[in-house]
Amino acid sequence: MGQPDVRAATIGGMSPQSHPQRPSIRQRALEALLEPDPARKAAQARALFEEASACQAPPTAACTAPHPSGGDAWSEPRLLEVVEALTLSEAQQAAMPGRPALPRLVPAKDVPSRSPFTQEGRAALLHAICHIEFNAINLALDAVWRFAGMPEAFYRDWLRVAAEEALHFSLLREHLRSLGHDYGDFDAHDGLWSMCEKTRHDIVARMALVPRTLEARGLDATPLIQDKLTRAGDLRAVEILDVILRDEVGHVAIGNRWFHHLCEARGLDAVTLYPQLVREFEAPRLRPPFNEAARKAAGFTDQEMAFLLGAD
Ligand SMILES: [Fe+2]
Ligand SMILES: [Fe+2]
Repeated sequence: MGQPDVRAATIGGMSPQSHPQRPSIRQRALEALLEPDPARKAAQARALFEEASACQAPPTAACTAPHPSGGDAWSEPRLLEVVEALTLSEAQQAAMPGRPALPRLVPAKDVPSRSPFTQEGRAALLHAICHIEFNAINLALDAVWRFAGMPEAFYRDWLRVAAEEALHFSLLREHLRSLGHDYGDFDAHDGLWSMCEKTRHDIVARMALVPRTLEARGLDATPLIQDKLTRAGDLRAVEILDVILRDEVGHVAIGNRWFHHLCEARGLDAVTLYPQLVREFEAPRLRPPFNEAARKAAGFTDQEMAFLLGAD
């Protein structure tokens, strides 16, 4: 047995080198990920992004703790500590991700698809999207706490994503409530989080397969869903999906940016690596039709689009 891992004791507490009252934003992203209550999780995600945004380089007094050695201030904002590798206790691992008792999670094939032209069916459709957004908060928070040693911009990007997913979740939940339902009322599946789990040790695969595969699928699906909702007369839902589609282009762009960044840094060929990762991690092979305009806006190259369009 070696020395106890001091870093493992920092979640929700403090290490000998951390500021007495203020765990880093990455530590608090982990706490938010473990938070089971959706409203509290969403509020925490938005607060973390606001705090990080107020804490821009060069560090200001408000976001820089004194260095424990008594020397110069931290060379980077302490609250955006990016180097420290955080680890999970067994209890935290078991509680990952924090989510409410409902919705019940079932295999994807057991989630019924219903007509959006009845109020119940429309509520079920909106619930499914609301569940995707809830999971998406978790995915973004997971990227923040799990992967140490990335450039600070990586953490800022994923904090932005977490905050925007929190907004999407909250807008959909509010609308769902106006239809007499709430988050948890319908069964849901766990496909998004499963891919997050599968790629927990591989940041390149995570960037390739979560934002730029699973989230990107939302770019393709959203206009089709909006058509149905327009025909069903639910203009508020269409309006919410406009906000979501706009933001999701940014999320996929963030996935593309960091996937390509990592490939370049590691001397990997992004175009040939992607299909290998799809096979290795058994990611869904995406099928047309694609929202080519949104995908191009999110940074997919012609070569990458050609691969997608060549799906057999
Ligand atoms: Fe979203
Ligand atoms: Fe997203």
